[in-house]
Amino acid sequence: MEAMIRLLLAGYLVAAMTGCAGTGTSAAVPRASSPLPTTSPSTQASTPAPIACSKVATPGVTEGPYFKAGSPAASTLTGPGVAGTSLLVTGHVLNLNCAPIVGALLDFWQADGNGQYDNNGYRLRGHQFTDSQGAYRLETVIPGEYPGRTQHIHVKVQAPGGPVLTTQLFFPGSPRNSQDSIFNGALLMQVSSGASTTANYDFILSSE
Ligand SMILES: [Fe+2]
Repeated sequence: MEAMIRLLLAGYLVAAMTGCAGTGTSAAVPRASSPLPTTSPSTQASTPAPIACSKVATPGVTEGPYFKAGSPAASTLTGPGVAGTSLLVTGHVLNLNCAPIVGALLDFWQADGNGQYDNNGYRLRGHQFTDSQGAYRLETVIPGEYPGRTQHIHVKVQAPGGPVLTTQLFFPGSPRNSQDSIFNGALLMQVSSGASTTANYDFILSSE
């Protein structure tokens, strides 16, 4: 029920259209304002056991020009007709004490394997909430590069009733990481490629 109420997060506004652009330039301009979704007061149940973490808050980076408010509730973003190699991303949302945050919002959006965003619909866009263990699971594809940008996945993360963290996730070894001014090594996922590609990242929020 809590999640249903909080689906009214459509209160997002489309923020500044700067940074992350496919212009060939790599100027990163932080957002001037953050659209705050509507959230209910925290109703966290019993607190799950802490998970080993760095206790260093996950840094925010620019939203970029392609965020769209009102994404569907979905943890599976890939499907028929979506270009790209399958990727499973898992992890947790934690506080600074490494305690999992239950019911935290994660709103993902990204380019497909060809570096293309769906700016008309909601392909490769979706939001979800962490489970009773503070965990999330995203089934998607490995994003392609596009002019000026290395491979990345955008996300907004918000503890119930807390501020919104807008950031991006990056891929270790991506050849253009070093050329992308938005790239931040603290946002590298742990990626393993076997029969399928999986990645892991735990977000640490500075405030709830
Ligand atoms: Fe982007």
